[in-house]
Amino acid sequence: MGKERLDKIIASVGSYSRSDAKKLIKAGKVSVGSVTVSSPEMKCDPAVERIMINGILLQYSQNIFLMMNKPAGVLTATKDGYAKTVLDLLPAEYRNREVFPVGRLDKDTEGLLLITDDGLLAHRLLSPKYHVEKEYLVRIEGTLSETDVQKFQNGIILADGFQCMAAELVILSEQKTDNTDTTDALITIQEGKYHQIKRMFGILEKPVIYLKRLRMGPIRLDDSLKPGGFRLLTEEEIGILKSAAERKDPEWELSDHE
Ligand code: URA
Repeated sequence: MGKERLDKIIASVGSYSRSDAKKLIKAGKVSVGSVTVSSPEMKCDPAVERIMINGILLQYSQNIFLMMNKPAGVLTATKDGYAKTVLDLLPAEYRNREVFPVGRLDKDTEGLLLITDDGLLAHRLLSPKYHVEKEYLVRIEGTLSETDVQKFQNGIILADGFQCMAAELVILSEQKTDNTDTTDALITIQEGKYHQIKRMFGILEKPVIYLKRLRMGPIRLDDSLKPGGFRLLTEEEIGILKSAAERKDPEWELSDHE
């Protein structure tokens, strides 16, 4: 980040708006190093200077990590000429830090979307070499059997010939109506190919009618986030996410996956 205005730095951490940050500074509640400051325009470098608010150290992270409960109907993109994107749901403090979504959820898919400005972590979370699991709640048309569970376990081969890694399918419940049967299940995959889950169920001729991501590696969607809601990851969540993205599969180089 380098040197930035103090009010902007405080607002970018997430607990305070820009105007709250200005008020705190003007009220003499903020210090930089050992000096109490009164000017929101003052510039400093949060990576090297200790910023305290009411005597508490500001937990400034070099990078920003957010989780969003992506609503259906919004594009997973940074900008689009026509449709609303997930970044349009964020305030300027975050958009100004040039954040981007980690991977894609389809327009009609809901649930956990990580948003960051950390390119290396994003790359690792998406690379199949690091085996970061993605767990989804899925509703399909039709019923599922133990044979289907086994097919996912063995690795579905998609229509274009791509061999998926082993996926875990847990059947939750069946709903029977006069015309259609639907089934809810949890599915955990390790890659993130375009429309992967819809294409996997497509092979079984069971169309996906609802899809929501619940987990990415060790990070679970916060139940308290309404669709469109977001929050910063805690320091603890950032730590476990980074360590999950450090464990590269030693077998990978020997396997025939792309
Ligand atoms: N698989 C899909 O088919 N769609 C998504 O949005 C995510 C995974």
